[in-house]
Amino acid sequence: MKKALIIALCLVFVIAGVAVAGIRYSKHDLSSSGGQNTRSTNVDEVCVFCHTPHASNTSMTAAPLWNRSDNSTTWSNTNAYTSPTMDGTSTGPNNANPISKACLSCHDGNVGDETLVNGPGSGTNTITIQWQNAIYSTVANLNDTAGLTNDHPIGLNMAAISALDNEIYNSPQNANLRLFNGLVECATCHSVHNSTNYQPFLAMSNAGSAMCLACHNK
Ligand code: HEC
Ligand code: HEC
Ligand code: HEC
Ligand code: HEC
Repeated sequence: MKKALIIALCLVFVIAGVAVAGIRYSKHDLSSSGGQNTRSTNVDEVCVFCHTPHASNTSMTAAPLWNRSDNSTTWSNTNAYTSPTMDGTSTGPNNANPISKACLSCHDGNVGDETLVNGPGSGTNTITIQWQNAIYSTVANLNDTAGLTNDHPIGLNMAAISALDNEIYNSPQNANLRLFNGLVECATCHSVHNSTNYQPFLAMSNAGSAMCLACHNK
């Protein structure tokens, strides 16, 4: 009896463990079985909303095997952050390094306005995705009236900026913070597949502002 109870408890922990791990059932799981408010009603795959194994969108060079159309017109470089105290310049969502545009294809307030380059199933099948609710909360919509001008800058060349500003390290002091072509981008601070470790999809813990302090020598 006791043994059965222990086994049953272990199973509960194992199942609970699987349920919260990685991208599955996170806010980035848009599949019909993902349980999210913003979800598809007719596509039950997780990765397909961002990646495809074949025929990917190669114009999005920095985003691997990218399966979404490009919304570069929405995000011009003119809406990049700027300030009188900045030593470097933010390129904003840059066509030459479009990794952040990958995020912004959804974080423009509407997930459903992009088409999948290669829909699930046989061939380069284009299907119309049906959505439960493709417009999502204002919190996740960075395309407010200020565009990206009221958001932490991206497209920052840390090594170049550190030469001008001795309060910026020449590279992040934590291995979880990755640069893309030497630049700070959305995916430097965020870990798109993992909401388990640090919310919201953070690449490392920001307790005690540890993440900020990994780049800013304050
Ligand atoms: C919400 C969009 C999104 C979804 C869904 C998604 N990815 Fe990604 N993935 C990205 C972005 C953006 C990058 C590039 C930035 C990065 O590496 O964090 C990436 C990078 C990757 C990479 C290369 C970098 C690495 O981490 O090794 C692999 C492999 C990958 N994804 C696999 C997957 C698989 C497998 C799934 C489904 C289980 C998946 N992704 C679901 C957005 C997504
Ligand atoms: C396929 C569409 C899609 C892509 C691509 C995408 N996201 Fe998201 N993201 C979402 C949705 C949907 C939500 C949930 C919004 C809501 O709850 O209102 C979300 C939520 C988030 C949140 C908030 C999580 C929370 O717990 O509140 C963060 C942070 C985030 N995304 C970062 C990123 C970053 C960084 C990238 C690129 C590396 C990215 N996302 C790419 C669709 C996407
Ligand atoms: C310098 C680090 C950094 C960069 C770069 C960055 N973020 Fe964030 N982001 C954070 C932190 C830290 C939080 C959590 C904020 C909080 O706790 O209020 C966050 C929160 C968010 C949220 C949740 C809403 C909110 O305001 O809390 C979204 C959505 C998001 N980021 C998307 C993005 C996207 C898309 C990009 C690229 C355009 C990006 N982030 C670039 C650090 C960053
Ligand atoms: C991956 C490295 C990195 C991380 C993490 C990071 N920053 Fe930054 N941040 C930079 C760089 C580089 C600049 C550009 C500095 C410049 O050009 O003067 C910058 C710019 C800024 C600015 C604007 C400075 C100005 O003069 O206008 C502020 C404020 C700021 N960061 C605060 C934060 C906070 C708060 C956090 C944590 C939530 C954070 N940063 C996390 C690298 C980072």
